[in-house]
Amino acid sequence: MVGIAAKWFFLCLTCYLTVAIAIAMTNPSTKKTYIVQMDKSALPESITDHLEWYSLTVKSIIAKPESAEDDPERIIYSYGTAFHGFAARLCKEEAERLEEGHGVVAVYPETVYQLHTTRSPTFLGLEPEDSTSVWSENLSHHDVVVGVLDTGIWPESSSFNDTGMTPIPAHWKGVCETGRGFKKHHCNKKIVGARIFYHGYEAASGKINEQDEFKSPRDQDGHGTHTAATVAGSPVQGANLLGYAHGIARGMAPGARVASYKVCWTGGCFSSDILSAIDRAVADGVNVLSISLGGGISSYYRDSLSVAAFGAMEMGVFVSCSAGNGGPGPISLTNVSPWITTVGASTIDRDFPSTVKLGTGQTLTGVSLYKGRMNLSKKQQYPLVYMGSNSSSPDPNSLCLEGTLDPHIVTGKIVICDRGISPRVQKGQVVKDAGGIGMILSNTEANGEELVADCHLLPAVAVGETAGKGIKHYALTSSNPTATLAFLGTKLGVRPSPVVAAFSSRGPNFLTLEILKPDVVAPGVNILAAWTEAVGPSSLPTDRRRVKFNILSGTSMSCPHVSGVAALLKAIHPEWSPAAIKSALMTTAYVHDNTLKPLKDASNHALSSPFDHGAGHINPSRALDPGLVYDMGVQDYFEFLCTQKLTPTQLKVFSKSSNRSCGNALANPGDLNYPSISAVLPEKPSVSVLTLHRTVTNVGPPVSTYHATVSPLKGASVKVEPETLHFTSKHQKLSYKITFTTKSRQSTPEFGGLIWSDGEHRVRSPIVITWLPPI
Ligand SMILES: *[C@@H]1O[C@H](CO)[C@@H](O)[C@H](O)[C@H]1NC(C)=O
Ligand SMILES: *[C@@H]1O[C@H](CO)[C@@H](O)[C@H](O)[C@H]1NC(C)=O
Ligand SMILES: *[C@@H]1O[C@H](CO)[C@@H](O)[C@H](O)[C@H]1NC(C)=O
Ligand SMILES: *[C@@H]1O[C@H](CO)[C@@H](O)[C@H](O)[C@H]1NC(C)=O
Ligand SMILES: *[C@@H]1O[C@H](CO)[C@@H](O)[C@H](O)[C@H]1NC(C)=O
Repeated sequence: MVGIAAKWFFLCLTCYLTVAIAIAMTNPSTKKTYIVQMDKSALPESITDHLEWYSLTVKSIIAKPESAEDDPERIIYSYGTAFHGFAARLCKEEAERLEEGHGVVAVYPETVYQLHTTRSPTFLGLEPEDSTSVWSENLSHHDVVVGVLDTGIWPESSSFNDTGMTPIPAHWKGVCETGRGFKKHHCNKKIVGARIFYHGYEAASGKINEQDEFKSPRDQDGHGTHTAATVAGSPVQGANLLGYAHGIARGMAPGARVASYKVCWTGGCFSSDILSAIDRAVADGVNVLSISLGGGISSYYRDSLSVAAFGAMEMGVFVSCSAGNGGPGPISLTNVSPWITTVGASTIDRDFPSTVKLGTGQTLTGVSLYKGRMNLSKKQQYPLVYMGSNSSSPDPNSLCLEGTLDPHIVTGKIVICDRGISPRVQKGQVVKDAGGIGMILSNTEANGEELVADCHLLPAVAVGETAGKGIKHYALTSSNPTATLAFLGTKLGVRPSPVVAAFSSRGPNFLTLEILKPDVVAPGVNILAAWTEAVGPSSLPTDRRRVKFNILSGTSMSCPHVSGVAALLKAIHPEWSPAAIKSALMTTAYVHDNTLKPLKDASNHALSSPFDHGAGHINPSRALDPGLVYDMGVQDYFEFLCTQKLTPTQLKVFSKSSNRSCGNALANPGDLNYPSISAVLPEKPSVSVLTLHRTVTNVGPPVSTYHATVSPLKGASVKVEPETLHFTSKHQKLSYKITFTTKSRQSTPEFGGLIWSDGEHRVRSPIVITWLPPI
């Protein structure tokens, strides 16, 4: 029944899309969604209602009167908390006319954002690192609400069990929106709000088919359930994936509440919906926003996520975003605005080893989460086949794409497939459909030695590039190649860890070199958390398995770790600003792994740099008591924007209703009171001495004395003045200067660190110094 309905729906959708595309191509007045930012102070005196003003504004620029068939509802959203303005369906000419309109600050076209997951079901117990259990013990109930912008939530998951929780905090103004599969009773003291945002999506992609997709907060995809549970899931005993690795699953802030804002649908996450969700979440009273998606436009003032996050920060909301999965190449970051906490991903100390034993007797190690009825005997060898060639350039025949495997060749064999183009679990499905009995998934140069385990539907082992080359060589050169696969379960205490994930997006920050990004790294590889029961752990339509927990990898997974820790910090220190919370997370982060060696990079096994890991790996228990913080207010961020060569109109995007103006308080963008320090010394005009300024606020013992230590750099001498800071009271602010004097210009950036210590606290800022070549 369902299958037939889905097929019928698909056919209809296809014809609808064809017609829609044909119209789009022939009709110059095709409407698209535009987000329009308005200057609240320009509201004409004769009008009291903003929506009325927005309607009149739109009517004034509509070319011809709307015909009866034409949808009169041009305005799909009105925004009023984190952002001022509306979203409307307009044709290109109308949008251009609107830009000239009275009170119009900016008009941006709708953009599509993507979830930052690599969708790799793998395996891990979320029993947190070091002291997290200790420090959440006394915080089982608190009033912090984390808004999660994602694919919705699966309310039946035990991670959202509210047994024993105190009543919903009085400040909370959110609601539980109902729809198919989601009733009022699905919200509770853990899930305190659930809303959906789809007008932008529908305006672009047509009506959501309610038979096919839940047009309600219910999570069909699983991603939103996973991220929400990582933030604030209640402890669940005996969490596991397909019987593997029992453990306690819990969120980073098990006492916090979650509010789910569903902004992502099967076709993506649209900026007008994201903007509306942030605006609504801030009005509802969230304290923290967790946003595991990105994309959009790389500019401070045109990226609606950046603009809305500024509005949230103005209202005291901490915003944590994923850095992106564009690594290991440089300059691959998203969400780089300084008022956002940008989170990269690293490994934890769990692994899922498996082996490939070749006919030669050689054994190579890989990873897998395979668990199923089909068992490859360790004793027996099976024929092995590789459809690619031995050339070093990628061979399309080796990718196991749909329809490329000949059952006559692969039936009964273990097939070697190269990573790339299609999802990893789908390659396994292709091998299985063609009659293959197992798969060896080989990394190529693009992934190096980083191993991501998946919940495959047939016995499968993922191997690194080097092991893959050896296996492929054997398969191509031996007259009778054979292999067998074995699955060894879960291994703990993996060393070294953490290691920065190869997929984690890297700096430098393309918008402003003086702001080091990412800010921190957090666990984002093989993370176990709650899952939807609408799809199987591989997310493939053919996967009939249903699991309560699943393993995913991506900066989508590391972001909610930071959101959860931020919620704990907010609960303990309600008076801390978003900047103070970020500072506490950054200055207490560590840059060593569990072998006490500097952090490494999974992509090349070389040392990781601050362009990969920012200030380092979060250390929740130390972030609780950082000693000093680099605090900032809204005007500080605005002054930073004033250094970014924005036009007055572009700046207005951030000053909105307030009459904020540039005080030219910062001589250099690097003077923003950021917890990391990035010194940029251009050659033309030649700068060989640069002084940056910082102010620290004492949040530790009232009377304390801090001494500065700076790591030496090859290309410059570094001087901190004063070298000692004497505090005599709590919340006292003291300033210092850090001066870089070039000794010899280096062609590549140099990295170091500045530590302020009172003997008990270590307040560390990473230092990056970049000598720009002449333009
Ligand atoms: C938890 O609370 C108890 C009693 O209030 C206190 O003795 C203990 O130190 C607290 N533990 C932590 C980790 O704050
Ligand atoms: C919630 O947790 C409580 C206590 O652990 C348990 O008794 C109850 O059955 C759980 N409820 C659900 C719906 O899982
Ligand atoms: C798989 O093989 C092992 C021995 O190699 C055996 O102990 C186990 O029971 C088998 N499992 C299944 C599900 O057949
Ligand atoms: C590929 O195979 C050919 C023939 O066996 C051999 O001459 C050549 O060196 C191989 N190339 C690589 C890159 O292994
Ligand atoms: C405008 O700026 C002045 C001086 O800075 C301030 O007193 C006033 O409250 C501001 N007005 C608004 C609407 O923010």
